[in-house]
Amino acid sequence: MDSLAAVDWAAYESEAAHAVARAANGGELDDVRVRWLGRRSEIAQALRGVRDRENGMLLNGIRTRLEEAVAAREQALADEELDRRLRDEVVDVTLPGTPLPLGHLHPITQTRRLIEDAFLGLGYEIRDDREVETVEYNFDKLAFPPTHPARSPRATLFFDDTRLLRTETSPSQIRILEEKAPPIYMVSIGRVYRRDAIDATHFPIFHQFEGLAVDRKITLADLKGTLLHVMRALFGAERRVRFRTHYFPFTEPSIEPDVSCGICEGAGCRTCKFTGWLEMGGAGTVDPRVFENVGLDPDEWSGFAFGCGVERVAQLRHDFPDIRALWEGDLRVLRQF
Ligand code: PHE
Repeated sequence: MDSLAAVDWAAYESEAAHAVARAANGGELDDVRVRWLGRRSEIAQALRGVRDRENGMLLNGIRTRLEEAVAAREQALADEELDRRLRDEVVDVTLPGTPLPLGHLHPITQTRRLIEDAFLGLGYEIRDDREVETVEYNFDKLAFPPTHPARSPRATLFFDDTRLLRTETSPSQIRILEEKAPPIYMVSIGRVYRRDAIDATHFPIFHQFEGLAVDRKITLADLKGTLLHVMRALFGAERRVRFRTHYFPFTEPSIEPDVSCGICEGAGCRTCKFTGWLEMGGAGTVDPRVFENVGLDPDEWSGFAFGCGVERVAQLRHDFPDIRALWEGDLRVLRQF
């Protein structure tokens, strides 16, 4: 029992206990454990060789106490670490947060919602139809004559002989009339496509809103009242509406509605080209041929329809000089609206 005799076990225990107490973190504590209690420590070796009960109890006692000291130190280090984290990582919920940059709706979307609101107030249903249309719905059923210039590939973007990018939202009139029985009060808003050269007032893609009312005994006066309501919702309570005669294949009579210029209050300015009036699009009472094309009796049903440009509304509301700005997505411009 040389190893037993050579070691001062009281000193061993006290030195080991000091080392445990000095260990400043988990890594150091592990080293201490290996050094004083590990398989190759003096005490482990001595325990392997011990034969008598007295020394066995002595050594086991030391080992147990040291193991407890290590466990206690381990717990103390974990507690300290937790305290430190609770102190350092504290979240002050009263601090102001980092502000997130907030965007806003594109002026076209703003205008679109405004238009939708005006018609929802009248009880109209809102529709969003397909942009890829057929010649049948874009032209034929709307009674466009075979020679109408809009049917030319110079004016309209065709996929093939039967399919095209719709040139107007008017196909929605046919679609809803085929889908459900009157009375119908709908507004259809969406993109339309024309083969136009791009300049300050033209872009090959733009938006229209199309109104259709079909009921018994609808007259031009109803159309005028409806447009007056909508124009006042869009441009202010002082607006007036007037009609000029025009021609569309699918309305009879056809008119072009004007709204009084809100910039000069009708006195005449550059925006209204010194007329006091702004052109708002096309309109009219539904042509009997349209009713026949969808299988409705024109003697029983009557209606009005209108179509206006959404960009035009946005331009007039904001005095927007160039329609291209609405498509460029330049945030320096869009932020102003
Ligand atoms: N679709 C016509 C256009 O784009 C406008 C219109 C709609 C005219 C409804 C009359 C009735 O020019």
